[in-house]
Amino acid sequence: TITSRRILRGRILSFLRRPAGVGDASSYRHLADGVVVVEDGRIVAVADAGEIDAFRTAGCVVDDHRGKLILPGFVDTHIHFPQTRVIASYGEQLLEWLSKYTFPAEMRYADRGHAEAGARFFLDELARNGTTTAVVYGSVHREAIEAFFEESERRGTLMLAGKTMMDRGAPAPLTDTAESGYRDTTALVKAWHRRGRQRVVVTPRFAITSTPAQLEAAGALARENPDCLVQTHMSENRAEIAYTAELYPERAGYLDVYDHYGLVGPRTLLGHCIHLRPDEIERMSEAGAVAVFCPTSNLFIGSGLFDHDGLEKGPHPVRIGLATDVGGGTDYSMLRTAAEAYKIMQLRGQKLSALSAFDRMTRANAEVIGEADEIGRIEPGLAADLVVLDSRATPAMAHRMEAVDGDLEEELFVLMTLGDDRAVAATYVAGRPVGAR
Ligand code: GUN
Ligand code: ZN
Repeated sequence: TITSRRILRGRILSFLRRPAGVGDASSYRHLADGVVVVEDGRIVAVADAGEIDAFRTAGCVVDDHRGKLILPGFVDTHIHFPQTRVIASYGEQLLEWLSKYTFPAEMRYADRGHAEAGARFFLDELARNGTTTAVVYGSVHREAIEAFFEESERRGTLMLAGKTMMDRGAPAPLTDTAESGYRDTTALVKAWHRRGRQRVVVTPRFAITSTPAQLEAAGALARENPDCLVQTHMSENRAEIAYTAELYPERAGYLDVYDHYGLVGPRTLLGHCIHLRPDEIERMSEAGAVAVFCPTSNLFIGSGLFDHDGLEKGPHPVRIGLATDVGGGTDYSMLRTAAEAYKIMQLRGQKLSALSAFDRMTRANAEVIGEADEIGRIEPGLAADLVVLDSRATPAMAHRMEAVDGDLEEELFVLMTLGDDRAVAATYVAGRPVGAR
């Protein structure tokens, strides 16, 4: 049998658990000169480089990344594939931003060729930024998300994605119905859920663009497909919350709209969660639902400052994911996203340590999407989805690094504060280099 062994040599960093705070060296494993041995898309061994000869086989490739950091590939827990030409759209807050820029852009994904080209660009861009897995919103069109899955399958990436369900509050060509949204999602699950590395996500856009009948159908989908994630948006913006209350006057609040239809559980990702009431925090905690923090989007659309510690460290702790939310978000880079998360937390008097940030981008994000046994750490048995980072990628970074005397946490903080796609020296998907600079 032909196996394709590859050895990556460099500084290896992988988190074991959530860091307790600055200096928690027991939360990660760091090998200053290590090797990751990869075979058939999986990690088969991790060792000190002194042992490299024991792992060499005839014809095996050695990629020398000495001096650079090898981490698990980044995981983005909320991003919109049809919004690559919405990113950087001027001057509006959420509801106007949706109708002025987003809906027209998403309308073009009715065209299969446009969707195919869009999927190629999108997946190229994620790879260039070191993101190897994402939880993705499509447009309303079933064919567009099929094009996305086909492209992801060709590349061997682990992607979780859904056809966005929306049966009101948008131009007619961009709406489905409660019935067709249910039917199309069910067909997608049959065709694509756990076909190789692809996963289907039940994706009602948000309460404003779904009738009660459609949320009922989404609840049925969640019940019938308990292995699928559910994703939607919640409590991003004050006008959105007020309009939702008008559309669902019989519900106790925004979270209760989703809860009523059986959409709030441990496999639910709720994008934004900025303006939550205490009872909603308590209920999310009890249900194990995930609040997805999208810092660049929240700043750019002017939505508000996510209360990270209020959710994570309160009496009713809520699970948190970190995400770009492109095209509301302004960067594909999880490094840039972490930098903006840090600044939002500063404005709230909270601290995001570099250890916590890198744990979130890798292990913790994999955990909140239910993929911790597959990705997010560098351990034998897990997929070889990896990113190689260069802390001296730009003049400003190299210059700043001259003042770092071997302190890993300080280096990571420089990387997240100054780094972006330029700091990504290589990305590996299932053991194969992709989109390397
Ligand atoms: N709420 C409903 N749809 C969207 C979207 O596409 N982006 C953002 N940021 N919020 C939303
Ligand atoms: Zn979003």
